[in-house]
Amino acid sequence: MDAVDGNRLVFVRGQGTKVYDEHGREYFDAPASLWLANVGHGRLEIADAMSTQAGRLEYYSSFGRFTTDVTLALAERVAGLSPLADTKVLLTSGGSDGIDLAAKLTRRYWASVGKPEKTVIVTRELAYHGLHAFGTSITGIAANQEGIGKFVPDVATVPLHDLDALEALLLQSSGRIAAFFTEPVLGTGGVHLPAPDYMRRVNELCREHDVLIVADEVITGFGRLGEWFGSTRVGLEPDVIVTAKGISSGYAPLGAVLAGPRVSEPFFGSNALTFRHGMTYAGHSVAAAAGLANLDIIEGERLVERVAELARPFFDELAGLERHRAVREVRGGLGLMAGIQMVDPAAAQQVSDACLEEGFIVRVITDGTLQISPPFTTSIAEIVELAGVLDRTIGALHL
Ligand SMILES: Cc1ncc(COP(=O)(O)O)c(C=O)c1O
Repeated sequence: MDAVDGNRLVFVRGQGTKVYDEHGREYFDAPASLWLANVGHGRLEIADAMSTQAGRLEYYSSFGRFTTDVTLALAERVAGLSPLADTKVLLTSGGSDGIDLAAKLTRRYWASVGKPEKTVIVTRELAYHGLHAFGTSITGIAANQEGIGKFVPDVATVPLHDLDALEALLLQSSGRIAAFFTEPVLGTGGVHLPAPDYMRRVNELCREHDVLIVADEVITGFGRLGEWFGSTRVGLEPDVIVTAKGISSGYAPLGAVLAGPRVSEPFFGSNALTFRHGMTYAGHSVAAAAGLANLDIIEGERLVERVAELARPFFDELAGLERHRAVREVRGGLGLMAGIQMVDPAAAQQVSDACLEEGFIVRVITDGTLQISPPFTTSIAEIVELAGVLDRTIGALHL
């Protein structure tokens, strides 16, 4: 929520990689809205599936023995795609929901195996994990806690790429750390890729210190890094994966938490404990129908493979912008996800405004970084055009 000073831009329609405002002006959606319009806008296959489902059965809860056929079908479909063995799927309404759920699940897991002292959740500097109470408490973006603070006491943050700091914290913690949460590539914090070998060492350290790994794949899940899940792309071996956005490409508020065998074990079988968590809209039938239709498109149009193919030319086009003195760094190279960090953070807003004038949406994220994460259906021609507009607008900055 912030003031828009009469500058509100009202979109009324979308088609493919473009959206249109109330005056009929066309804009290229370079961030795919909030990293999520992966199959593109205006997909009638998804709209039809949602409409059919709403007319057949709009909703029933998935509490106790109840559920609906589409809810089950989506959970099974996601389990089938999961890189985790024997995945249990807990559906949610979005990423922040999933983070809360995963945080509670990891604590509940440790309590159930007789280690209730393991409560601390560790995240990385610049990490973004949504804005519910847990997400706000564990973020590595200080601005998101300003005037609010942390709601959850047992949290810690380590510097972004610093494995020694992580190891030191694990050694000092007296076995109190429940889980390490990380995005495969940090998104909202400015598109930061893991340093070579970072994730392999994270796997080792967490195994050594008996700490669970939670991959926050709200952005990277379902193809953005050119594989179905970003964890496999960066060599992370999580116990739990949190997804949202790309599961429905934004057509419905939907998310899924994927729990691997270690974490789910206490809650299944003859002595099963209860994990008391479940929200009204978890597994909502219309959202599930949207999710299934979205996954049909991703598979049918081989969009994950398309992202993998586009990744190199996409990054090469944008990396050329580093020749401008105003650009500090262009980060990316894994899938369709890049950040262009400006030397002067204020210049990022100027570039974004100038691009908008030319019909290109480019979003400003942390530390004066421009977010470039187009729909998977984009083309080389569109990327070249976008890079050209960025080149011109950055070149025109008065330094
Ligand atoms: C990595 C990550 N985690 C969690 C979230 C929160 O998701 P939501 O906004 O759907 O609650 C986001 C949202 O951008 C995200 O990028």
